[in-house]
Amino acid sequence: MSTPYLNLTNAAGKVAAFSTAVRLGLLDRIDREPANPAELARTCGATERGVRVVLAALAEGGFVEQLADGRYRPVLTGLAALHPLIPLWDHLPDAVRTGIPVYDPNSASPGNAIYPRTMTYLASLWGDAVDHAISTLPAATRILDVGAGAEPWTISYCRGHPKSHITALDLPEVLPSTRRAVSRAGLTDRYTFLPGDVLTTPLEPCTYDLIIVAQVCSLFDRSNGSALIKRLTPALAEEGVLAIIDTLAGAPGSAMQELSLYLRTQAGAVHQPDAYYEWLADAGLTDITSTDLPTTLAIAVLTGRKPRQSASAHDNR
Ligand SMILES: C[S@@+](CC[C@H](N)C(=O)[O-])C[C@H]1O[C@@H](n2cnc3c(N)ncnc32)[C@H](O)[C@@H]1O
Repeated sequence: MSTPYLNLTNAAGKVAAFSTAVRLGLLDRIDREPANPAELARTCGATERGVRVVLAALAEGGFVEQLADGRYRPVLTGLAALHPLIPLWDHLPDAVRTGIPVYDPNSASPGNAIYPRTMTYLASLWGDAVDHAISTLPAATRILDVGAGAEPWTISYCRGHPKSHITALDLPEVLPSTRRAVSRAGLTDRYTFLPGDVLTTPLEPCTYDLIIVAQVCSLFDRSNGSALIKRLTPALAEEGVLAIIDTLAGAPGSAMQELSLYLRTQAGAVHQPDAYYEWLADAGLTDITSTDLPTTLAIAVLTGRKPRQSASAHDNR
């Protein structure tokens, strides 16, 4: 059996099935109410056999699921919103030739282009791994989430730590999506929303017991990743913990992740584990730990603790 042939036809077939379901309105229709292939064929102007095979392929690809009564429903609502991401890949040959990503990094609001659309789906990637990640983090009351997105980690954290309050920092054009996710979770009173750029927004010094930087360091190259961790560390309270959650180089799924970063970002990369250790140590953090999460797309939590200032440092003030 030819694996390259299968891999290619499966990947192309998945994209085509998804695109067909969007274009014929099948996904929108089952967003409103689950339906069986016969009903869908009638309402969307298609053949029943065609609808049946497309939905079966989408079920195999994890987009939809079939209920016991034969009707289909999407695994998440609003999946059709991801459709505009497909043609972005047409830009890959140009990006490989020129080194210029699909989004103009100099545009005033590069975040407008992709994040509001993809946040919710990104947040749904991790399933049970979120609870596993949260269990590796200390109990904290003041938390800063840097590049908050749809808050997959802190929503779960808030539920486990009822006294916690989250400051969600993200680009101004992305924060409405963040607010929506938090409001859907019924947790708006536990959040403060801070619009800004992670590289420049002023942060109160010595304030947060926990800073979470999830899937953000990989948007930057090694030197800017290091600079980001150094910039965030002064905002940690004494003994506070900074947690990076990201894919590590060499882990399953990391090559495709790197390809996507190549297409979307100026210099983003899946970094080596030792890069993260180095950034945390260079920022003056200690007790560095790394925990792999049990996910298909491998992702890890790396933490470092800000040391308590020594008595002599206090005396020298
Ligand atoms: C890959 S998403 C991760 C979101 C979330 N932390 C998660 O784990 O699902 C990256 C997030 O970083 C935000 N982001 C990217 N560049 C940023 C910047 N320069 N300043 C602030 N936020 C930024 C994006 O808007 C997006 O919400």
